[in-house]
Amino acid sequence: MNFNEVLDRKVKETEKIIEGYLPRETGYQKTVIEAMNYSFKSGGKRLRPLFMREFYMLFGGGKKVIEYFMAAIEMIHTYSLIHDDLPAMDNDEYRRGRKTTHIVYGEAMGILAGDGLLNLAFETVSNSFDVFDNPVKIGKAIQILGKKAGIYGMIGGQCADIESEGKDIAQDKLMFIHLKKTAALLEASMTIGALLAGASDNEIEIVEQIAQDVGLAFQIQDDILDVVSTTEELGKPVGSDEKNQKTTFVTMAGFEEAAKEVERLSKRAQDNLSALGKESSFISELIGSLINRKK
Ligand code: IPE
Ligand code: IPE
Ligand code: MG
Ligand code: MG
Ligand code: MG
Repeated sequence: MNFNEVLDRKVKETEKIIEGYLPRETGYQKTVIEAMNYSFKSGGKRLRPLFMREFYMLFGGGKKVIEYFMAAIEMIHTYSLIHDDLPAMDNDEYRRGRKTTHIVYGEAMGILAGDGLLNLAFETVSNSFDVFDNPVKIGKAIQILGKKAGIYGMIGGQCADIESEGKDIAQDKLMFIHLKKTAALLEASMTIGALLAGASDNEIEIVEQIAQDVGLAFQIQDDILDVVSTTEELGKPVGSDEKNQKTTFVTMAGFEEAAKEVERLSKRAQDNLSALGKESSFISELIGSLINRKK
């Protein structure tokens, strides 16, 4: 099997696992649950749970506990997208090839669906205590999830991103935005995978560095695609950044430099991955494939 076939199979496996944790659409709260599932089931690359599982397996993990965390990270990511698209934020109407949640269900349900997914994420991981006999590791993993998704992670980055609209910002602030709004959830994915499988503190530090580079590269590429891609291919609107007067790596340094930076960061991540001394060819190819991703 070539890389794309393996990737396809792994994404399907990931999807099957995480969809098993979605709530049933019943009761007087049916509408909010429908809105949560609508966005979650719209597809998406599933990179965060995929990377989590790959790093879990890289360090020898093989238990069900990881599945709860895979579902949770995708719930948090999906919530971040639902809220990111709201009129008060990026005000976008397409996501994952469909109308955004607030367009279909209204703004109030969009807000509630995001809140619902965030809470369900933490409820889901707390259920993993029932299946795994190392509560200390689960506790640590929940700590990472909270921190990387919250004000010291994704929400912190979104705060600086929104406040910077229409302003010239320095490169270190742009770095902060990218590292927090995007790299942080990838850091959570990869380090939680490694941690639950029993990686050492030193190994987890290296994994975090890999995730940081992959995350930064991923957001720079997202900014490039916002200019050069099409809505059809991307499944979300192009030109969103210009519309919202965002400073990006592209506006700051130009395409060529931005593309070079994506490559440099990805190569560094691959080198650090090799330095772990494990059989990591699939992960390495996955990181490499993101350099020239089209969506
Ligand atoms: C989009 O993330 C938001 C960013 C952090 C750039 P993805 O590009 O991973 O979105 P999906 O999950 O594939 O839809
Ligand atoms: C969003 O960055 C990162 C999130 C935390 C959702 P963008 O605003 O660039 O993401 P897209 O382009 O809408 O997916
Ligand atoms: Mg945004
Ligand atoms: Mg956006
Ligand atoms: Mg974008």
